[in-house]
Amino acid sequence: MESPRLLFFLYPILILHLLAVTNAQPRFLSYWCSNGVGNYTTNSTYKANLNTLLTSLSSNNEIDYGFYNFSAGQNSDKVNAIALCRGDVMPTACRSCINDSRIQLTQLCPNQKEAIGWYDNCMLRYSNDSIFGTEQSSPYLYMRNSKNASNVEDFNQVLGNLMASLRSKAASGDWRRKFATGEANVTSFQSIYGLMQCTPDLSELSCSNCLEGATNEIPTCCDSRKGGRVVKPSCNLRYETYRFYDFTAANAPPPPATPPPSPPSADFAPPPLANTTSTQETRSNSSRTIILIIVPSVIILIIILVGFICFFSRKRSSMEKLETHDEDEITNVESLHFDFDTIRVATNNFSDSNKLGQGGFGPVYKGKLSNGQNVAVKRLSSGSAQGELEFKNEVVLVAKLQHRNLVRLLGFCLDGAERLLIYEFVPNTSLDHFIFGNNS
Ligand SMILES: *[C@@H]1O[C@H](CO)[C@@H](O)[C@H](O)[C@H]1NC(C)=O
Ligand SMILES: *[C@@H]1O[C@H](CO)[C@@H](O)[C@H](O)[C@H]1NC(C)=O
Ligand SMILES: *[C@@H]1O[C@H](CO)[C@@H](O)[C@H](O)[C@H]1NC(C)=O
Ligand SMILES: *[C@@H]1O[C@H](CO)[C@@H](O)[C@H](O)[C@H]1NC(C)=O
Ligand SMILES: *[C@@H]1O[C@H](CO)[C@@H](O)[C@H](O)[C@H]1NC(C)=O
Ligand SMILES: *[C@@H]1O[C@H](CO)[C@@H](O)[C@H](O)[C@H]1NC(C)=O
Ligand SMILES: *[C@@H]1O[C@H](CO)[C@@H](O)[C@H](O)[C@H]1NC(C)=O
Ligand SMILES: *[C@@H]1O[C@H](CO)[C@@H](O)[C@H](O)[C@H]1NC(C)=O
Repeated sequence: MESPRLLFFLYPILILHLLAVTNAQPRFLSYWCSNGVGNYTTNSTYKANLNTLLTSLSSNNEIDYGFYNFSAGQNSDKVNAIALCRGDVMPTACRSCINDSRIQLTQLCPNQKEAIGWYDNCMLRYSNDSIFGTEQSSPYLYMRNSKNASNVEDFNQVLGNLMASLRSKAASGDWRRKFATGEANVTSFQSIYGLMQCTPDLSELSCSNCLEGATNEIPTCCDSRKGGRVVKPSCNLRYETYRFYDFTAANAPPPPATPPPSPPSADFAPPPLANTTSTQETRSNSSRTIILIIVPSVIILIIILVGFICFFSRKRSSMEKLETHDEDEITNVESLHFDFDTIRVATNNFSDSNKLGQGGFGPVYKGKLSNGQNVAVKRLSSGSAQGELEFKNEVVLVAKLQHRNLVRLLGFCLDGAERLLIYEFVPNTSLDHFIFGNNS
């Protein structure tokens, strides 16, 4: 009787849970599209240029120091793009993250001239405007750790000092990398680990300004939390009480290789001195509301904990990551949302020929998104009475999936009574086994 409600109620947990344990995969954080400002049409030159540019990206080996700027086209149809990886990310992982962003963004912002996608490991943005060398601080994304720091006053003091020192260290980086990590001790038992990065096309001054702005937003974003992130188009910062970056890679110098992309004087030229605030403010007014998302955290946290106690008391070992890592709250579940029609088309209207099988919570279909990506779509049968056991199996199963890094949840769809889970589908793996589960 009460199971449909149970399912509905627990549904968001599934998503949050999934996100929390997908550490090993490039984790998609959020995105922004220039909704309503500049749309292009399907057969426009802009679209063709964008395609050229994004295609060149997927076969690009030049992304060897974690930053790449490129453009395609002329005049009003010119597309500019910037790709940036976190400073401690290896070139291979970097390319794969940017490749992922490319696919996500074209899907999420199907006809917008301007878009930004943020992952844990990288960022991709494109625009018809010239974005190279310009500090842009909105739209932005906040994320925060769900736990409070224990000794707030000392914590903030130490954090403030750490951020200030990282800021000057990051800003003084060169044209390849403006990135800094560091740690500081609050007590002999607690350390804070911090990370700051600018797109290295910024001048030292712009980078420092951008990071200062981000630092000033910490109280708004993450007051007294144990960890937080402020992520902007031109710069980002993060701090946690555990080490979340690769220490060795973070402290290695960037590879010498390739010469500067242009005469250094151009690279380091400060942005136009005319006050840029006015343009930035109009921009921020229109986009501020889009990505500022505060989640009713405590409630969700409690629900998750209850879920854990109920369902995972015997599965503790697979949960260690989550427990020890104080994962972030998810601030924008919308970014995982898929359109029902998109999925219906992708699965050929949930045709039987696309059906892979039947899981505890409903059938699973194979589908192909318009960008060519193969997906497995689980259609949760909301009406039928389902017990705790099925749900438990389901969650354990999904946890396993994520744990073994076999399939990745791409998103979900909620449309009326329809509830779909959309996974990455990797042909030639024993995916069925994992989706339908011979779980013990
Ligand atoms: C631009 O496209 C988006 C998404 O397709 C749509 O929501 C928006 O209304 C469009 N804006 C204009 C001005 O056409
Ligand atoms: C970018 O596109 C927007 C909307 O179409 C337009 O207002 C703006 O002038 C364009 N910018 C450039 C540099 O062409
Ligand atoms: C785009 O194609 C449609 C039909 O496919 C056509 O009606 C329209 O005029 C074309 N637009 C441009 C800008 O070429
Ligand atoms: C980028 O992703 C596409 C589709 O997933 C894949 O076919 C291609 O090999 C990837 N390219 C790189 C360089 O990883
Ligand atoms: C990157 O930006 C610099 C400076 O504007 C420019 O000289 C260079 O051509 C750009 N690279 C690409 C691939 O567009
Ligand atoms: C964290 O601290 C704030 C006040 O600083 C308080 O309102 C909130 O309830 C605390 N949250 C937890 C989980 O302790
Ligand atoms: C922090 O404390 C640890 C152990 O107490 C020590 O090894 C480390 O050097 C300290 N770090 C800083 C930056 O003081
Ligand atoms: C430029 O911006 C600063 C604040 O960022 C402001 O104090 C100053 O008055 C502005 N100057 C002009 C000429 O608008």
